[in-house]
Amino acid sequence: MPANHRYSDADIAAVYRVIYERRDMRHFLSDPIAPDQLNRLLAAAHHAPSVGFMQPWRFIRVRCPDLRIGLHQLVEQERLLTAKALHEREDSFMKLKVEGILDCAEVLVAGLCGQREKHVFGRRTLPEMDLASLSCAIQNLWLAARAEGLGMGWVSMFAPDAVKALLGMPADSHPVAILCLGHVATFYEQPLLEQEGWAARQDLDGLIFENFWDTPPCR
Ligand SMILES: Cc1cc2nc3c(=O)[nH]c(=O)nc-3n(C[C@H](O)[C@H](O)[C@H](O)COP(=O)(O)O)c2cc1C
Repeated sequence: MPANHRYSDADIAAVYRVIYERRDMRHFLSDPIAPDQLNRLLAAAHHAPSVGFMQPWRFIRVRCPDLRIGLHQLVEQERLLTAKALHEREDSFMKLKVEGILDCAEVLVAGLCGQREKHVFGRRTLPEMDLASLSCAIQNLWLAARAEGLGMGWVSMFAPDAVKALLGMPADSHPVAILCLGHVATFYEQPLLEQEGWAARQDLDGLIFENFWDTPPCR
């Protein structure tokens, strides 16, 4: 018999619960996050897997109100451009709330650090592995936040060079996410995009192949 490394039923249930109940939040209360709680969430990000342990990410905690306003303006500019690029869906896109930067307790800008090419392990043939590693860190933070009752929203609509300039980021760094973190009145029952009729999660069956590309699994 193999050793039983399994968690207890209650612990397993808690893991799946946080996965299914995590939501991308855009509506926040302004109540502050306690410093030790924020530290726990950042430590969760810190414990995410990263290729070759390169930890290619940095989080900038944006505390200055003017910077927060500046980020909000950049997102608003990109929101309008995205709406235009959507042509016939422009009007319905404009009704979506795609960020909560001015309302949330904490704004964290997550980015890839500079000098990533010196990390050969894992990244030589697939430079995207740095981005994958950052995504793991963000997801850890997201799940930990949900478990602690805090909401997080991932905002990706911004011109990267403008965010870089605003936050004094090095030339070879790259901002990836503006993360809105904070207390919420309630968590959405379903993903907001689904609630608003914009899009829905695709069926798992269409996303899993067997052996060869485009070959559906026999189940
Ligand atoms: C890489 C990434 C970028 C995203 N960027 C945005 C964004 O700019 N604005 C937004 O409203 N939601 C954004 N989202 C949230 C997705 O729309 C959301 O995760 C999806 O609708 C599923 O909802 P759920 O996270 O609540 O399950 C982003 C999510 C990811 C993973």
